[in-house]
Amino acid sequence: MVAVELNGIWKRFPGVIANAGANLHVRSGTVHAVLGENGAGKTTLMNVLAGIYRPDEGTVELDGIEQDFSKPADAIAAGVGMVYQEFRLIPTFTVAENVVLGAATATIAKSKIESDIADLAERFGLHTDPGREIWQLSMGERQRVEILKALWRDAQVLILDEPTAVLTPQEADELGRITGAMAADGRSIIFISHKLDEVKAFCDEATVLRGGKTVAASLPVTELDADKMGELMVGKATAVSQRRVRTTEIGEAPVLTVSDMRVNDLHGRAVVAGVDLVVRPSEIVGIAGVAGNGQRPLADAIAGLIKADKGSVVVGDQDLSASPPRARNTAGLAYVPEDRIGVGLAPRMNVVENAIMRNYRALGSGPLVDRKAASDHAEDLVENFNVKVGQMHAPMAGLSGGNLQRLLVGREIVDEPRVLIAAQPTRGLDVQGVAAIQGILVEQAASGVGILLISEDLEELFALSDRLLVMHEGEVVAEFDPETATRSEVGVAMAGGHAEDAA
Ligand SMILES: Nc1ncnc2c1ncn2[C@@H]1O[C@H](COP(=O)(O)OP(=O)(O)OP(=O)(O)O)[C@@H](O)[C@H]1O
Ligand SMILES: [Mg+2]
Repeated sequence: MVAVELNGIWKRFPGVIANAGANLHVRSGTVHAVLGENGAGKTTLMNVLAGIYRPDEGTVELDGIEQDFSKPADAIAAGVGMVYQEFRLIPTFTVAENVVLGAATATIAKSKIESDIADLAERFGLHTDPGREIWQLSMGERQRVEILKALWRDAQVLILDEPTAVLTPQEADELGRITGAMAADGRSIIFISHKLDEVKAFCDEATVLRGGKTVAASLPVTELDADKMGELMVGKATAVSQRRVRTTEIGEAPVLTVSDMRVNDLHGRAVVAGVDLVVRPSEIVGIAGVAGNGQRPLADAIAGLIKADKGSVVVGDQDLSASPPRARNTAGLAYVPEDRIGVGLAPRMNVVENAIMRNYRALGSGPLVDRKAASDHAEDLVENFNVKVGQMHAPMAGLSGGNLQRLLVGREIVDEPRVLIAAQPTRGLDVQGVAAIQGILVEQAASGVGILLISEDLEELFALSDRLLVMHEGEVVAEFDPETATRSEVGVAMAGGHAEDAA
């Protein structure tokens, strides 16, 4: 039984054709992978299925019945749920409040809602606590809330847009079990991914998009291997994550010194519990850890975006502990945050405006921005970092995930910082995107920049780091030399264990 049938979908944006006659057929009771490089049109095609966009041409059928969605609510009513690349939850609301938000629940008692959510979570193995507020949750937990939200609306078709990009390997495995349970229940899951191993482990069939077209339809995943996938996606496979070859010596005097950093959450719980670290010129210091162990508040506090309860941040010999984010930036501290949308970029502003958000002082005198200089600057960024944009004055929100990240990283390093904090910089990027961003980090280190690389991708940390720190429950619990350490030793430290448990 074919549950979802998209035929000949065309979707054009000013200056870009996102979908050029794409097809996708998904059978009920299966997990179906949608693959393709950054900008291939995956999210756009899913937005058509989810009622966000109306296609310029082509048809959408569910269970053999043609649909005409003019808004997301139409798709939801027809049983289509979507979990976006960037979550859309309200941080100060509880899990339960977010799950029911916008659904007709006025007549249902709160306790009934919470117990219904708990039942649903139990049925599909979605571990979560309905009473907790979103800001307290790790990325993995937030994602489970998004899935619950769709299940609450009785989604028979669930679209997951790069769901494991934000997950640890363990959480990704758990998601694999969850999607498996939903498929066994007769639902259809569409799983966008860039990772071959999880596609093979979690999915039944795969459809590959390239340049907005379907280049392989409903291929059994057993027929996919790395060469085949690379060839279908981009026409060639690119090797990334080989250990970097260092070309410059690590300097002596630290460019970043963080001492006894402490950050408490609103309940007084220490989310960063006394962190000391230094980063030297040309050094890449990696931070590994399961999501939600303090990496994000640590980075935010170093950048000055949140207030530390204790501790100091020194760049070179300049104490910035009391300085606002802009002063830290001016002193040579650049930050590529984990949240591209919101903290990093302003989705409603256009490419030029986003490109100059950091540099507007340099681009004009007084409060007025020199428009020509701003445009030139944005065009340089777009060109140097190979950002695919349709129009420079169209809103940022239209860029694909990979292109957003290129623009963000480019903007942060264009000022030649002394130290760069990069949080999950390659999350959700395709093979070429990962290689491009990792290449930029390596180049920056070679030119003398000290880099604090926070990542949940162990391969990346092993490939790039000179030293590897592990965070667990707000503390740096271990330090490894990536040349000699093993994955399992680091994994054990991430889980809060001791190195000797690794054997
Ligand atoms: N609202 C929009 N306005 C303008 N251009 C858009 C819009 N949405 C998408 N595009 C463009 O359409 C193309 C396809 O984008 P899409 O987001 O569908 O790619 P993707 O395959 O999901 O990529 P990624 O893996 O990076 O998430 C890109 O060139 C993108 O910049
Ligand atoms: Mg996308």
